[in-house]
Amino acid sequence: MKKKVIIDCDVGVDDALALILAFHSPELEVKAITGVNGNVPLDLVFINIQKVLSLIRPGQRPLIARGADRPLKGKPVYAHSFHGADGLGGAKIDRGEGGGWGQIFPGPAHELITGIARQHPGELTLMAIGPLTNIALGLQKDPEGMRKLKEVVIMGGAVRTKGNITPRAEFNIFVDPLAAQMVFEAGLPITLAPLDVTHQVFLNPQLLEERVRPINNSISRFVIDSLGYDLARHRFRQGREKFHLHDPLTVGVVINPALVEKEKIAIQVETQEGECWGKIIEISGDQKVEVCFKVDSPKFLELFLSRLED
Ligand code: RIB
Ligand code: CA
Repeated sequence: MKKKVIIDCDVGVDDALALILAFHSPELEVKAITGVNGNVPLDLVFINIQKVLSLIRPGQRPLIARGADRPLKGKPVYAHSFHGADGLGGAKIDRGEGGGWGQIFPGPAHELITGIARQHPGELTLMAIGPLTNIALGLQKDPEGMRKLKEVVIMGGAVRTKGNITPRAEFNIFVDPLAAQMVFEAGLPITLAPLDVTHQVFLNPQLLEERVRPINNSISRFVIDSLGYDLARHRFRQGREKFHLHDPLTVGVVINPALVEKEKIAIQVETQEGECWGKIIEISGDQKVEVCFKVDSPKFLELFLSRLED
C-alpha cells in the first residue's frame, strides 16, 4: 500500500532533490505539491515546482497550489545567496514540449491540504520542507480538516545544535516562528527532522564524481548543475565541500522511518524579536513531538543515490 503524501515546499535546490526522491520512490503516492514563501519568493517557488515536475515527468500528475507569499507576521526572508537568483542554482531544465506536469488547483495551498486530508482521513502524510506558514493557515482555517492528517513530517529547527541562518535558528523556523509555534502546539502527530540530524547526511565531491556523474541522465545532470558542482575544481558553489540533504532526508524518513532514531520531547519556538528569534527551546510539557537525532547515513545515501536513476 503506497503512503499518500503532500509535499509543502519552498523550491530551492534541496527541495528539488526531495521532489525527485519522492517521485522516484514506489513507496509513496504524491497527491499534491504546495508552494510557500521561503528560499525564494512564492512566485518563483511555484515556477520552480513546475520546472522540477517537467524534469521528473511523473506518471501521475499531482495537484499543485500556491500558498503564502509571506510569513504570518513580519517580512519575508529569502536565501538567494545559497539557492541562487532562480532558486535552482541556475540549473537549466529542458521543459520539453507541453508543460502541465502538475494540475493547478485554483484555491490556496492550505485548502488543498485540508481538502485531500478530508478525502483520505487518517491516511495522508504531510511533509513540510519549507517555512510552516501554509500549515499554520490550515490550522487557522480548517483545524478539523488538519486533524484528519495521519502525520506531519517537518524539516526544521536546530534543537541541540547551532542554527544555519543565525547561530540559534534554522531557516524554515526563522522565516515564520509564529507559524511554527502554532504547528508544534496544535497536537498534530509530528515528526521533526532538525539540523541535528540533517547535518549528518550530505553529498561531497567523491560522491558526485563516483556515484552521481556516471548516472549521466537528465536528473544527475540537474543535480550537478543545481549544486553548482565544478567538475574541474571538485567543489560545490562558493567553494563548499559539502551539500547537506536537509529536505531529501525528510522524504527518506517517510519512506523508511527505521532510518532514524527519535526522541519524544516537548518544544517551543522563540517568537520574541531579538537574537533568539526562531530558536527551538526544549521545555517540560505534555505536547510532545518525535525529534530525529540520529540517522543511518550510509543507508540513506544509498537510498537517495540509487533513486536518481531513471
Ligand atoms: O535550513 C534548511 C531548510 O531551509 C531547507 O528546507 C532548505 O530548503 C531551506 O528551506
Ligand atoms: Ca526547503
